[in-house]
Amino acid sequence: MKTLLRMKTSLQESVQNMLNEQMTMEAHSSAVYLGMSSWCHEQGLIKTGEYFKKQSAEEREHMLRIFDYMIDMGGRAISPTVSDVQNDFTDLKSLLELYLEMEIKITESFNKMTGACIKVNDFQTVKFFEWFLNEQIEEEDNARRTLEIYELIGTELDGLFKIDHQIGELAGA
Ligand code: FEO
Repeated sequence: MKTLLRMKTSLQESVQNMLNEQMTMEAHSSAVYLGMSSWCHEQGLIKTGEYFKKQSAEEREHMLRIFDYMIDMGGRAISPTVSDVQNDFTDLKSLLELYLEMEIKITESFNKMTGACIKVNDFQTVKFFEWFLNEQIEEEDNARRTLEIYELIGTELDGLFKIDHQIGELAGA
């Protein structure tokens, strides 16, 4: 079969590499959130389990958004390999702490990539990142809110049951 010569693209190699790494990060988040969903369901935290299933689907959408951008720009999107997916958690608090930590890392990554794209005059990609930078405000806020809910209600008596319901409310689960 004839190999089609890749048309020239304005997407620089360094930017393509960053975008592919970000696709891996989003795919990793999607996989971890699915693991969190499973663990929560196992503990009877059904609403929180559904919340994380929804978050997992959203992360996959984020990955595909980058995938589509790369394709549209004539770049080469690499289907990510995902490893280090945590499926076991000590308790709900440590799970929620990890969730917030991961969202903060994603925000940092977009800030870093935006800075790098400005340096190489790739303003199209900077513009593309705007949606993600806005999205991260909500993503981080939700993650922080889950921890606040945990702290405010506490785990005394039927605390976990109430926490589960409140976290479910965040996603309308
Ligand atoms: Fe794709 Fe939750 O950041």
